[in-house]
Amino acid sequence: MSAALPNGFRFSAATSAFQVEGARTADGRGRSIWDDFLERPGAIKDGSTADPACDSYRHPEADVSLAAGLGLDRYRFSIQWARVQPEGRGPANGTALDHYSRVVDALLDAGVTPLPTLYHWELPSAVEEDGGWLERDTASRFAEYADLVAERLGDRVRHWYTLNEPAMTTLQGYATGALAPGRQLLFGALPTVHHQLLAHARAAEVLRAHGSSHVGLVNNHTWVLPLHDTPEDHAAAHAYDIIHNRVFSEPLLGGGYPDLAALGLPDMPMLPGDLELIGGSVDFYGINFYNPTTVTVAAPGEPIPFDIVPTPGVPVTGFGPEWPIMPEALRDLLVDLRRRHPQLPPVIIGENGASFPEPDRAGRVEDADRIDYLAGHLSAVAEAIAQGVPVEEYTVWSLLDNWEWADGYTQRFGLVHVDFETGERTPKASYDWYRDVIARHRAEISR
Ligand code: BGC
Repeated sequence: MSAALPNGFRFSAATSAFQVEGARTADGRGRSIWDDFLERPGAIKDGSTADPACDSYRHPEADVSLAAGLGLDRYRFSIQWARVQPEGRGPANGTALDHYSRVVDALLDAGVTPLPTLYHWELPSAVEEDGGWLERDTASRFAEYADLVAERLGDRVRHWYTLNEPAMTTLQGYATGALAPGRQLLFGALPTVHHQLLAHARAAEVLRAHGSSHVGLVNNHTWVLPLHDTPEDHAAAHAYDIIHNRVFSEPLLGGGYPDLAALGLPDMPMLPGDLELIGGSVDFYGINFYNPTTVTVAAPGEPIPFDIVPTPGVPVTGFGPEWPIMPEALRDLLVDLRRRHPQLPPVIIGENGASFPEPDRAGRVEDADRIDYLAGHLSAVAEAIAQGVPVEEYTVWSLLDNWEWADGYTQRFGLVHVDFETGERTPKASYDWYRDVIARHRAEISR
């Protein structure tokens, strides 16, 4: 690694509930938008459901011991709203909270700090039926759910992510329909930005009232590159940067919304006081980074002013040209974020990782390509820190191979291989590599 990671730097790995838990009807769980979406013909590439996935609801101890075996500082997992409130409102389902309480205890016993995410994309269907993230009231319902979870876990959990990647919910859930709830509203999806940020901010208030000291959300950031060095492509890149990154980061980091009117877009459905609430709501800023995005100007008359195109001249992951590999893009976006926001709070890389074609059946996988990807991005983080960006933690997506949303079981991201027929877990070469990186870092700082 060209630059060193500082003393106190934390290492984590992540999963999300719907992608690993299975047990979709156990213990009174309600339906979520993902249960609805996966039943649509053709919605999931391999026609699979997320059940049993990794069967983690029934065997959480298997995941906890893999997390502990890596020597992780923290394990990022998520809690399903529809398990806790099957109808998205009303009292908590105690059996579901018992489950998550056991997971928290098992992690603490194993010496790993639990870092739950309250919402990783699975809105209860009943909330979506009332308008979902298009409705302001969803923010209040989310805060009530956060209160129920904190009431039960807040004596042991002090660190929380509220929402995972609101950008993907807006862009792919409500604008293009590639993810649940599968709505295709294009710019009509914009109110979901504000309602998610408000939900995060209200939940942060609730979590702090329960004594939590470390609350943030984690957003998906990309580094946007114009295909050609022309004014038209620069304008397209600017528009995409606003829609994907800055419409989420700027209000959270205290600057209010970027100028949407300049792009011909409507204002956010704000009420007085909203921006102040959102502006003070993060103790840290979470960034999930996977790949840069190259854009070019769209043909005249198209409803969206940019086209996303392959990034020339770089290798790609298992998704092909859709997911170019460019670690320095992570460094550049971190340095750029700090330049725009000199008072940037501590940054956590909440997800980073890649899928590559790997066998389905159990067995050791020598995933040198994943090791290269992760090592390159960890170096990029170290370089950003050397340039003054306050990054405190790095998280690998994912601890386990899991159910990759609309791609079903066709994309494997894990440090651990999972045979989805038998549930067998086999650490890959990247698991050993990450364990050694963590151990070496601890040994260096204790010298
Ligand atoms: C999501 C994960 C997902 C990963 C890889 C992230 O956007 O938070 O749930 O599996 O990307 O696609």
